[in-house]
Amino acid sequence: MSGAGPVPVAVLLSGRGSNLIALHAAMTRGEVPARIALVLSDHEDAPGLERARERGLPALAIPRQQFPDRESHEAAILAALRRAGVEWVCLAGYLRLLSPRFVASFPERILNIHPSLLPAFPGLHAQRQALGHGVRVSGCTVHLVDAELDSGPIVVQRPVAVAEGDDEAALAARILAEEHLAYPDALRLLLTRRWRVEGRRLIFTPGG
Ligand code: GRF
Repeated sequence: MSGAGPVPVAVLLSGRGSNLIALHAAMTRGEVPARIALVLSDHEDAPGLERARERGLPALAIPRQQFPDRESHEAAILAALRRAGVEWVCLAGYLRLLSPRFVASFPERILNIHPSLLPAFPGLHAQRQALGHGVRVSGCTVHLVDAELDSGPIVVQRPVAVAEGDDEAALAARILAEEHLAYPDALRLLLTRRWRVEGRRLIFTPGG
């Protein structure tokens, strides 16, 4: 754990924000030694921003279209994160791939959640991909972010059985319920345990 007091975390989102709410609720219950220092979206009308403001959390839109290129957009986001004193970044339905430069600005301090058991079904519509493939088990993954899409060392996974007759919405809803447990769990583990990354693997020190 870094110093005294809750660790300042930013949540980056593009949409609904249910994982933001789950993280915030777990922090409020004292289950994760962190606080949400900033909620940031690339979409002005992301419902997650409104949900953040309703909870009194600082929320900011930095729309992509206001910038000439990805570099300047990311520079504005990084400046906002620095201003807010953020130490960890949680991507929660943030629909942009971060540049290597952005990732290097928070080395091993950026998390993402994805609605499949990675490395299966990266990218968009992971639940639809899982149904289309006919898997019997899918789930969700929280991982450290590297510069590739839905890549990076895995922290927590939670499985979800696919039921006969599942459609995309039904499977997505059951996976989402597990996401809301997995994300706070992953952040808590990373903030309270000793760990290191070796190659693709994130290794928790036994007893640490
Ligand atoms: C989640 O399914 C997450 O796994 C994916 O985007 C969705 C975001 O949902 N990356 P929400 O905005 O947190 O409700």
